[in-house]
Amino acid sequence: MSDKSDKAVLIIDGKRYELPIIAGTEGPRAIDITRLYETAGVTTFDPSLANTAVCRSEITFIDGEQGILRYRGIPIEQFVDKPNFVEVAWLLIFGRLPNREELTRFSELLTANELLHEGLKAQFQQIPVDAPPMAILSATLNNLACYHQQFLSIEDEESFEAAAARLISKVRTIAAFSYRRFCGLPFIYPDPKLRYCANFLHMMFSIPYQQYVVTPEVEDALNLVFILHADHEQNCSTTTARIVGSARANVFASCAAAVCALWGPLHGGANVEVVEMLERIHAGGMTAEECIRMAKDKTNPFRLYGFGHRIYRNYDPRAKILKEVCDRVFAKLQRKDPLLDIARKLEELALSDPYFIERRLYPNVDFYSGILLRAIGFPTNMFTVCFAIGRLPGWIAQWREQHIDPNNRIVRPRQVYTGLPETKYLPIDQR
Ligand code: CMC
Repeated sequence: MSDKSDKAVLIIDGKRYELPIIAGTEGPRAIDITRLYETAGVTTFDPSLANTAVCRSEITFIDGEQGILRYRGIPIEQFVDKPNFVEVAWLLIFGRLPNREELTRFSELLTANELLHEGLKAQFQQIPVDAPPMAILSATLNNLACYHQQFLSIEDEESFEAAAARLISKVRTIAAFSYRRFCGLPFIYPDPKLRYCANFLHMMFSIPYQQYVVTPEVEDALNLVFILHADHEQNCSTTTARIVGSARANVFASCAAAVCALWGPLHGGANVEVVEMLERIHAGGMTAEECIRMAKDKTNPFRLYGFGHRIYRNYDPRAKILKEVCDRVFAKLQRKDPLLDIARKLEELALSDPYFIERRLYPNVDFYSGILLRAIGFPTNMFTVCFAIGRLPGWIAQWREQHIDPNNRIVRPRQVYTGLPETKYLPIDQR
């Protein structure tokens, strides 16, 4: 029995309305306003949806106060020791950990679908060599719909799994091909003998006469990078995927739209901004102290990239893990990167500065991920692409959750209109 009320009372113009309060298994309760306009003739105003739960979801739980992130109930820290991105992808999409047989079957499906249709491959030749890889990724994921039209309407489990496997497998090939084109290097075909991340590294970095040698520590680190990005409940790109999917758009179109949202520097594009910021400090363009000053200056649009989060008011648990992995990988590769030292210094300055302390701004996932990807060999313009590869299972899982929900309705928010009242049309010579 709960002593908490399950109703909220709203009084408008002296009239009383009772609104149900709903609760999930964890997290804050939510006032259900779905019938508010119908009953009271008013809407609610929440422009960036910062205080609006847009769905019920069983996939990911975040406690931003405590810095907790769980996939299907499992804390992300538990994936660190034996990181297997394919297993986590299956967990997110299908709701439980796969048994050995299911994991093998899904891995085989990924292997069977790693090639791109020759028609799709030919499209790379028409794209400008210096095209942004995120634009290529979004366009090519959408174009998968041209070559896999049997999945434009998915109504059964088997088709869904087949479509998910195509996306998760081909995204690596698309990403690697865009990089190879950028470098003027020949495309390297996937190697079916290699595991998911090793195969991606092979397509990125092998050359025809020399196979890239995958170090276990690097393979683990990449698995972990992908796992830590794999889902993050209702963030901007995932919400985009759900909104597009709510119109019954296909899974390729919905994921392509999510890539576009992710590209923004306030979202997945922040990992690029972080490294560019660190490079600027390293090159003497500004000092770490100036960087902090600029981030605090409200007349300057500059932000301390890789810091702050809509939900976390504590250290982002993903950043905590990535910081440790950075140390491990740098030690293994016997690498030194001055950017890592600058990042540590910036973090120290920010975490002892009243501006950041008062606002509870901590490093987020993007603060250390770029430095790690750079150590593995990824160029800066591929960082957000790597984020997208990691996030793809999350988008697919969230798309599916909504797709199979019998109560799914098209997402169609309202607005507070602030334009002109009814105005007369003026013919052109009277204006
Ligand atoms: N640098 C300077 N000031 C900041 C920063 C920052 N990185 N982040 C937040 N603030 C300020 C913000 O200006 C506001 O100040 P005031 O109260 O004086 O108006 C205050 O802190 C509270 O901001 P908020 O409401 O928590 O921020 P938000 O929820 O609107 O935005 C954010 C969240 C992630 C877009 C923002 O923190 C930001 O721009 N960070 C830098 C970009 C970044 O690292 N993005 C990656 C996010 S994590 C991965 C992902 O989701 O893609």
